[in-house]
Amino acid sequence: MSMEGVCMLKIVRARDYKDMSRKAANIISAQVILKPDCVLGLATGSTPIGTYQQLAEWNKKGDCDFSQVSTYNLDEYRGLSHDDPQSYHYFMKVNFFDHVNIDIANTHVPDGANPDADAACAEYDRIVAEAGYPDLQLLGIGNNGHIGFNEPDDHCFSKGTHCVDLTESTIQANSRLFDRIEDVPRQAYTMGVQTIMHARTILVVANGPAKAQAVHDMCFGPVTPSCPASILQLHPNVTVVADEEALALCEL
Ligand code: GLP
Repeated sequence: MSMEGVCMLKIVRARDYKDMSRKAANIISAQVILKPDCVLGLATGSTPIGTYQQLAEWNKKGDCDFSQVSTYNLDEYRGLSHDDPQSYHYFMKVNFFDHVNIDIANTHVPDGANPDADAACAEYDRIVAEAGYPDLQLLGIGNNGHIGFNEPDDHCFSKGTHCVDLTESTIQANSRLFDRIEDVPRQAYTMGVQTIMHARTILVVANGPAKAQAVHDMCFGPVTPSCPASILQLHPNVTVVADEEALALCEL
């Protein structure tokens, strides 16, 4: 038990990135085996790439069948077309959907190409609700504790899918994936915290020292909109799979 109190989240310690990815893939694979037509909430970012690779490997071996699975991604940059290599539509295609037997018609990502933010977000909320919300939601975590693109903000706990202004820290962090920082979109459409909390189970993946503070605050800090991930302490079924570096500030 931590000196700081009881953590409400289940923490699984991984040795390194590979181990984290394998453990996370095992949890997702178990979900798909238990409910072949499950709804998965998916995430982008560098962290889940290894998880997707592992799932693709098991899919090729015939061990994890995505043919009946439907997916709903957390977020998308506003203003990028679906085939823009920086878009999350594109990310999901090249990092996951192209490598498994999922029906692409069953995959969903917020429509960043729709300039009408209210319409795009309301439609996304409608289809996620219609699908019955994810059986399992995969989440990464931003250095500042954001989940999806729910940035620290006084009102971040009370929203469904909405358009957000990205913080400077997120723009900085994500600029590594763009040629120039000026190219990073300033806005995104994201599933809100309210939407995320509807998922029946939540799986957070985190690795590396840059995530240590956010992981600590998510698990042991106060539940506060200044660390959006801290709301997960109020969800009944959250598992965090993190490597040693990301857990460095957690006394377990
Ligand atoms: C982006 C995504 C988040 C992701 C975060 C961390 O901001 N919208 O969903 O969790 O980046 O990304 P990474 O895994 O690359 O550190």
